[in-house]
Amino acid sequence: MSRRIIIKPSEHVLHVAPGETILQSALREGFSLPYGCRNGSCGICKGRILSGSVDYGNYDEETLTEDEKQAGLALFCCASPQTDLVIECHEIGAIKDIEIKTLPTRVEKLERVAPDVMIVSLKLPANQRLQFLAGQYIDILLKDGKRRSFSLANAPHDDDVLQLHARNYPGGVFAEHVFTKMKIKDILRFEGPLGSFFLRDTVDDDVPIIFIAGGTGFAPIKSILEHVFYQEAGKDHKRTMRLYWGVRTKADLYMAELAEQWQQQHDNFTFIPVLSDALPEDNWQGRTGFVHQAVMEDFPTLERHQVYACGSPVMVKAAYQDFTALRKLPRDGFFSDVFTPSTSQS
Ligand code: FES
Repeated sequence: MSRRIIIKPSEHVLHVAPGETILQSALREGFSLPYGCRNGSCGICKGRILSGSVDYGNYDEETLTEDEKQAGLALFCCASPQTDLVIECHEIGAIKDIEIKTLPTRVEKLERVAPDVMIVSLKLPANQRLQFLAGQYIDILLKDGKRRSFSLANAPHDDDVLQLHARNYPGGVFAEHVFTKMKIKDILRFEGPLGSFFLRDTVDDDVPIIFIAGGTGFAPIKSILEHVFYQEAGKDHKRTMRLYWGVRTKADLYMAELAEQWQQQHDNFTFIPVLSDALPEDNWQGRTGFVHQAVMEDFPTLERHQVYACGSPVMVKAAYQDFTALRKLPRDGFFSDVFTPSTSQS
């Protein structure tokens, strides 16, 4: 039987499915409650039960003492409601509320998915999770003091393993390391989450969204889309979303099957791959040219739209200039994350 929870002081209402913890249901419904480990050992998710009763679940007894339980506290990552509840906790309303951490991480998997793209899966230490907003990135901290930035490609609700999409490019020292020397079980250190590339609510939340990805700019957009699909499940109201993914050749569409699957599963989502240098052997029948030009061709106006663009500086700049100047996109409706070769991202 599902339970209803009112969060104070925001008055947000949650519906907890059978078997879910309070935190799981909050994240699924799009409310950012604070968390760290998600397994009862850090205490970051601790909040107060103002009315109703919970099953406290499995947790570390040093993290939640008997006295704290008597005082009405619970760990929301472990506790499941036994009745309808009223709870009190501070909801994360902005990036500034999310703790930026420096953590070690272990390389769990390396998958070469295109000639110059490697998917790197990273496992955090036991008892650690990284809370982030879909679309944010982390900085890998190198031994010489330099940093390399990579967007997180997994969605926040799917945070067991962090996923990065690394592109090899001439002169990229760390990129070359990823492709030639990195091994499973290597230990890296990173800082994050960072950046402000995340989905914005609109006053009128019918505003359609256009995502433009250039190459591995697909990574943060994958995170955003997977999180949106997760949160929309079972809801009637869904924003219209289109993804234009621009690459050179067909081989560079390294997760096209996933995007096609999203399109089959979600009526509100359309996937438009665009090749700029299709090879004869690609037998490409789809869209060609520059990715932002494909959007220009499809939309006589972008007056009531939001655009999220992630890729090279040239692509992002051209999209911003043309959409705002020639398609009436409001300036505050354009959000971007620019990948630059030296740091991967800025
Ligand atoms: S998130 Fe660490 S104890 Fe709940």
